[in-house]
Amino acid sequence: MKRLLLSLLIVTPSFTFSQSIVGSGKAIDPYKYSGHKDHVYKNGAVVTAHPLASLAGAQMLKLGGNAFDAAIASQLALAVVYPGAGNIGGGGFLVARTKDGKSISLDYRETAPAKATRDMYLDAQGNAQTNLSQNGHLASGVPGTVSGLFASKKYAKLPLKTLIQPAIDLAEKGFVITAREASNLNATNDQFIKFNSLQPVFAKAGWKVGDTLIQKDLANTLKRIRDNGEKGFYEGETARLIVEEMKRGNGLITLADLKNYKTRERKTLEFNYKGYKIISMPPPSSGGILLAQMMKMVEKYPLKSYGFQTVKSVQLMTEAERRAYADRAEHLGDPDFWKVPVKTMMSDAYITKRMSDYDSTKAGKSTNIKAGIIESEETTHLSIIDKWGNMVSVTTTLNGSYGSRTVVGDAGFLLNNEMDDFSVKPGMPNMYGAIGGEANAIAPGKRMLSSMTPTVVLKDGKPFMVVGTPGGTTIPTSVYQTIINIIDFGMNVSDAVNKPKFHHQWLPDEILVEPTFKKEVREGLEKMGYKISDRNAIGRVELILIKKGMFETAADKRGDDSVAGY
Ligand code: DON
Repeated sequence: MKRLLLSLLIVTPSFTFSQSIVGSGKAIDPYKYSGHKDHVYKNGAVVTAHPLASLAGAQMLKLGGNAFDAAIASQLALAVVYPGAGNIGGGGFLVARTKDGKSISLDYRETAPAKATRDMYLDAQGNAQTNLSQNGHLASGVPGTVSGLFASKKYAKLPLKTLIQPAIDLAEKGFVITAREASNLNATNDQFIKFNSLQPVFAKAGWKVGDTLIQKDLANTLKRIRDNGEKGFYEGETARLIVEEMKRGNGLITLADLKNYKTRERKTLEFNYKGYKIISMPPPSSGGILLAQMMKMVEKYPLKSYGFQTVKSVQLMTEAERRAYADRAEHLGDPDFWKVPVKTMMSDAYITKRMSDYDSTKAGKSTNIKAGIIESEETTHLSIIDKWGNMVSVTTTLNGSYGSRTVVGDAGFLLNNEMDDFSVKPGMPNMYGAIGGEANAIAPGKRMLSSMTPTVVLKDGKPFMVVGTPGGTTIPTSVYQTIINIIDFGMNVSDAVNKPKFHHQWLPDEILVEPTFKKEVREGLEKMGYKISDRNAIGRVELILIKKGMFETAADKRGDDSVAGY
């Protein structure tokens, strides 16, 4: 009798978006919805790259779930509504701080298949064939996302069938696509045709805003995950379909690769900055170390009195970026395969030495800055907090936009092109211009180096901020600048996210700036000897700031990003 009662209680709620979740006063459904860029919530908040994914997470909070429940539901929903980056065929990282003060980091980065070899992307003359590391079947690492979702489930409260139902409904019944999605799908149509022998639902000319995207194969894959758990992806029908797809191209992923995939629980990377504790992702991401190095390099300078994006503050922050990224190229890789000198790289002595040749009167030169110790667009971020104070920060990716552009036939999901994040040849830039060497060389089972920087911040030991962003190698600099915008420049959440950003990654030796970067600052930097280059949007930051018990949220204006909560 007791058992019957329990199973009756765990009914899967039908997927209805309640308007009170958003606090906007507008009714929302998958066929008619709009995003919200900022809002203050009291009980829980979710910020993701798509309004429907934010709502799916917020719905779990309202049902009594915690931030981990919301993160799982939002990630699964993103895999449906944001096919360019939301995924089950990719990988990611989760950084969290629980209400009990436990720091967690989950590494569900893709791995190189067992048949991968160090020189697999070199032709007979030894030239790198980045077309193969970036496109189609051979570009994919073994996906980690589904394993990561299950690894985080032990911290969640609601049953999987509740968490996954929004994603199943969105895939099965469809949702209307945004103007941005329509334009991205159209721009990728030729590649969907080229890199698939079974044509996926995405391959269609002339997508328009308001078209309904229905993904029946994906709905069935999600149902197999709902019914069989992790095995519904890594074994059985889905695994068989992945391997069949590999055979249609020249892919390497086998049934054994899938069965052997494991999420790793890592020790979070933590450091202090001006009295705040920053908790971020350790290797195989370079994100946490870069963030720590850059913030510690500027910590002793009075940034606030220099002013936001003045020549003086941009120059200082750029020189820190240059030095940190030089180390990335040399020393960072999967810690299970390569000894990463994390402690040294973050030590005060090393940071001081690293900045000892900083000259505030002229541009540094990357040819003079080498790695200091002798001895990488389409990703998506979720920031979540619940009423108990659990903070969850997740960055997940297919690497490039729509990953390898190969969809697993009859399973309906895109595979990643994450193999390009390895150093396919020493000194050869990847698609984000990042170079690397031995530390990040390809080896079977190894995880490729990442820049993803999911981060949470504490003030006086209490929740203060949840932050992260996509953007390849610009990820650590975007997180660095967002945190400094809040802590040093005292900005509100919207400004901290939306003000222009700049980026220097050692090589190429130039500062990239967004279109709205101030002209006079640009000219001032050029006078000092900096090369400045234009680029489009840098990052799409999702930010939650905890102030006086309230959750101030901001979703980046650079995308369809949206906040939800209650
Ligand atoms: O792991 C990394 O660093 C890259 N694969 C991330 C790619 C990315 O952020 C693309 N997004 N805009």
